[in-house]
Amino acid sequence: MVCNVPSQNASSVLRRVFTLLGGARHTFILLFFVVLTASGIDIAVPFLTRQVIDRLVDSLKHSSSSTFTTLITSAAFIFAGTIVTRVLRSVYNYRLFKAVAKIEDRIKTAAFANFLRLDTAFHTRANSGEIIGSLDRGGTAVFVILYEVVGQNLVPPMIVFIGVLAVLLSKNPWIALSVFLPVPIYLLIVGRLTGKMNLLEHEISRGFEAVSKESYDIASNVATVKKFSQEEREAETQTSLLVKARTPQLYGERTWACVENVQTLVAAAGRVAVLALGAAFVLNGKCTVGECVLFIALQDLVYGPINQLSILLPKLRRNAARAQSLFEVLDQRSSVIDKPNATPLQPLQRCIEFRNVSFRYGGSSRWALKNVSFKVQAGSTVALIGKSGTGKSTLVNLLLRCYDPQQGAILIDGRDIRSVTQDSLRKQIAVVPQEVDLFSRTVSENIAYGNDSARADSISEAARLALAEDFILRMHRGYASQVGERGLSLSGGERQRIGIARAILRDPRILVLDEATSHLDADSEQKIQQATEELADGRTCFVIAHRLSTVRNADMVIVFGDNGIEAIGAHSELWSISPTYRTLYSLNMDLGAAKEAFSEPASEPDYEELAPISRVA
Ligand SMILES: Nc1ncnc2c1ncn2[C@@H]1O[C@H](COP(=O)(O)OP(=O)(O)OP(=O)(O)O)[C@@H](O)[C@H]1O
Ligand SMILES: [Mg+2]
Repeated sequence: MVCNVPSQNASSVLRRVFTLLGGARHTFILLFFVVLTASGIDIAVPFLTRQVIDRLVDSLKHSSSSTFTTLITSAAFIFAGTIVTRVLRSVYNYRLFKAVAKIEDRIKTAAFANFLRLDTAFHTRANSGEIIGSLDRGGTAVFVILYEVVGQNLVPPMIVFIGVLAVLLSKNPWIALSVFLPVPIYLLIVGRLTGKMNLLEHEISRGFEAVSKESYDIASNVATVKKFSQEEREAETQTSLLVKARTPQLYGERTWACVENVQTLVAAAGRVAVLALGAAFVLNGKCTVGECVLFIALQDLVYGPINQLSILLPKLRRNAARAQSLFEVLDQRSSVIDKPNATPLQPLQRCIEFRNVSFRYGGSSRWALKNVSFKVQAGSTVALIGKSGTGKSTLVNLLLRCYDPQQGAILIDGRDIRSVTQDSLRKQIAVVPQEVDLFSRTVSENIAYGNDSARADSISEAARLALAEDFILRMHRGYASQVGERGLSLSGGERQRIGIARAILRDPRILVLDEATSHLDADSEQKIQQATEELADGRTCFVIAHRLSTVRNADMVIVFGDNGIEAIGAHSELWSISPTYRTLYSLNMDLGAAKEAFSEPASEPDYEELAPISRVA
């Protein structure tokens, strides 16, 4: 995984899982007493059986009138005891299930919420399929550890184990020794394999995570897989990844098969010893037949659950490894955080300033932006133009605090944006990104995203302004139509218009249009530009564009060249100082050159000339 928190060993993961019980301490204490009572009754039942047998043996020797009464009373007690213990165990199981399911939900939600809070750098590195898979498996692992392994198969048998040990020690230490002596031998053998199995479990876990990461990646790119006829190949990749994941798993299973056999041998030896000793004591007159049967029954009470240990211990380790992956997501810290004394940012009034800002992406030695300084007056429009990959999106991402710059500062009305709350900063900004991501929800929910209180009429007004209403109303269920996974049932242009409507509805102080019309045809682009110009009115706008015509109304233009920002200024200033600007201007003119030949102006261009070829009125 991409998490870079230190990994913990199985025992510290288990300790951490147990601390989760703390939140419902009283419930678990109560449940402990319930299972204690049930176990006490379980241990008492063989004593009643002993009484029945001894009475029977007695009555065979000397006939007694009270034998029948004793038998009936004992049978009634055994029956009642069985019912009570069953009911108590049902209550215990249900209450435990409820409490542990709550813990599972809480920890999974907390890890998911933390995943959402993490910074953009983490999300860019992370594989969401892998993370979501590990949260799911981690949550289930916490449940399995607390409910299945500990709650069901360790605590109740442990109580019985201690109870039987105490009873046997007081009644017959030799029998106690033969019942319990094999247990440490067995634990020693299993324990020796623990370290080895631990490493194997991690390897297995990593193997299956790789499978789910790959399958998520393939599933989310299924259209590309089909277009390139790679179905067979991708299926083969899945098979080979699964084979790779299964290899350590099979090795682990073989190891545990050996352990199981050793364990059966040890348990069988213990059983034979109890039988032999018990029989010898009966023959020597040191105990009754009933007591001999009691010892065998008590031994069964202890050995049944101990046999489970060979299944439980690997299960515990496997699930500890899975829970660890969840804790890693939970412990991951964002590098973009609100300072403890951060206060809300007031609505933008005066200006946005980039002051000597330098930024490079983690792991990259190249500055994406180097020493950038400029000021934007509130209410004005800034155009960011230039070649692909020169840092335009990076600049607006810094404004949104998707990342923090390594040097310099970004100030809004004189306040460093690192000293304000991220929520208040982002509430003032709406972005129409290059690729609009939609949720698998209705059109209306997508437009109103981040704006829960939006009314239906304002949603349709926003859609109308974004020129989206026509195609929305043509859809099967209009605004209530589902847009499919990531909005893939819509065209690129339609998705973009929904993105624009979403920004309109947000009514932001600062608007960022990152190639917001790149998927649109010339006619729609022109109309959308009119709409966005209306939207831009009275707001501060950052417009990223590849075509100069898109930004001819900008008050300020930032030109990105091959080596960072090449020039900053008004249109009229840039012709003479920026080669990139001149190239873009010429390209823009070439579009119109089909109509009339154009020769590069010798001096400052006439911006009115752009009008006939630009798509903006
Ligand atoms: N998450 C990232 N990690 C590392 N490098 C990145 C990351 N995002 C962008 N870059 C690099 O930073 C540089 C600037 O990228 P940016 O996305 O800002 O370019 P752009 O000007 O918006 O390009 P385009 O016009 O194609 O959208 C590019 O070289 C890009 O490869
Ligand atoms: Mg970009």
